Amino acid sequence: MTQILQSIDKTRLEINASLKRKSELGQFFTSSNISQFMASLFSKEKMKCPKILDPGAGIGSLTSAVLVRLIEENLSNKATVNLFEIDELLEPRIYNTLSLFEEKINLDSKIIIDDFIEWAVANIIEENSLFDHHRNRYTHVILNPPYKKFKSDSRYRRILRSVGIETGNLYSAFLALSILLTDNGGEIVAIVPRSFCNGPYFRNFRELLLEKTSIKHMHLFESRNKAFRDDEVLQENVILMLERNGKQKDVTISISTDDTFSDYTEYIYPFEKIVQPNDIEKFIHINTSNEETIIEKFPSVCYSLQELNIEVSTGPVVDFRVKENLRQMPEEGTVPLFYPNHFISTKVEYPKEMKKPNAIVRNERVEKWLYPIGNYVVVKRFSSKEEKRRIVAGILTQDSVDYPVVGFENGLNVLHFKKHGISTEIAYGLYAYLSTTQVDNYFRIFNGHTQVNATDLRTMKFPSTNKLEQLGRWLILNTDKLKQEDIDDKLEELLKIE
Ligand SMILES: C[S@@+](CC[C@H](N)C(=O)[O-])C[C@H]1O[C@@H](n2cnc3c(N)ncnc32)[C@H](O)[C@@H]1O
Repeated sequence: MTQILQSIDKTRLEINASLKRKSELGQFFTSSNISQFMASLFSKEKMKCPKILDPGAGIGSLTSAVLVRLIEENLSNKATVNLFEIDELLEPRIYNTLSLFEEKINLDSKIIIDDFIEWAVANIIEENSLFDHHRNRYTHVILNPPYKKFKSDSRYRRILRSVGIETGNLYSAFLALSILLTDNGGEIVAIVPRSFCNGPYFRNFRELLLEKTSIKHMHLFESRNKAFRDDEVLQENVILMLERNGKQKDVTISISTDDTFSDYTEYIYPFEKIVQPNDIEKFIHINTSNEETIIEKFPSVCYSLQELNIEVSTGPVVDFRVKENLRQMPEEGTVPLFYPNHFISTKVEYPKEMKKPNAIVRNERVEKWLYPIGNYVVVKRFSSKEEKRRIVAGILTQDSVDYPVVGFENGLNVLHFKKHGISTEIAYGLYAYLSTTQVDNYFRIFNGHTQVNATDLRTMKFPSTNKLEQLGRWLILNTDKLKQEDIDDKLEELLKIE
């Protein structure tokens, strides 16, 4: 059996370079190690005579891994498999793959060269009109779908909406359709980017997933690019195992550095730690360290920014839209335009020698986007993969610059009070809190990418106003020779005092 998987792996590596529509169709094929791991997640007791769906099948690696498991573990002597693939050039490859199982298992197989989204939507609409709703449903779905955004006015968007799916990415569309095509008690194993776990764009998708399935297991790869080493896909991926209409119990979370799984470790988490009971955004938290997060350790860290009377906005000045108003250096009639580069720990370097402009002409067109000078905390929206921290904060104070109003560029999130500044202590306190290692670790549990959205900050929990003020006062007295450990220790010290 191992030989079969090795031979499929060989094909995978061989055809990689010859794929003509590789990036257009998201053709990144799963290695045999990952396929085997994914197949191992299906519950043994449910594997008798399975009806398996493999949407976006590539060369059939995932189906093969399930078949190998059925045979090796003697779980079933027959199986139905439906493999969907849009690229007709892969059809003979899938035939070859399935032919490796001849005489090893009784296979009822169909290779369907079609657009899975079109097919699945039509099927679901037809199913809804039938009396016997579950007639064509699958007991098992295994998928590594293509990843690509599609536009809000596209045909995909429209037809998906007709079956109650609101999403703008192929992978979430594939997974949502797979869920709808699975029978009650059926199981779905998918490898997908982690980006659906947070952010407003995937909220509807998270709701569908959490309403229609229970999460049984989630696996993360510690290293961002090792899961697909050969293809160098720089995506943080998660392997999910879901049960259609299953009862939500504790969730297994596992981690390994790469697809050798040599350092595989797993923990069991109560579901309340994965999705917080009162979180309307339904962020999915994946804690791989088995250590308590700051909010678990200190229940007093329980306030949303809204409860603290603080708002978050994305910097309203989109520089390329107001090019004619930008100036490299301040001059008569301009005010500062702040970019992430201007903020270095608690200091503002302004003006600064840099590629980006430093100033914006103050006129009628831009006036609505300007903020009166005051104390604001900013958080970078985009960090690079190499950067150690995901949350990089900065602080602008009343005295940072001598101008009545200032602009914040779109690469920043701005914390403010009704478009005005906040108190100095709170601003320093928020800056300090957001700059701790504990908060960065807490953030990584629900955000697997390098982007920090305003919704992420709105969903996060903060200490009380009082604690933030204390932290702020301490930071104001100690801004100069501060080390990371000092801020981290101070936060814990303050939170320990009830
Ligand atoms: C990320 S690859 C994974 C392939 C395979 N499942 C594996 O794990 O090796 C996604 C596959 O989906 C196929 N695909 C892309 N868009 C599709 C669509 N609309 N319908 C069906 N297949 C599609 C691509 O050609 C590609 O083979």
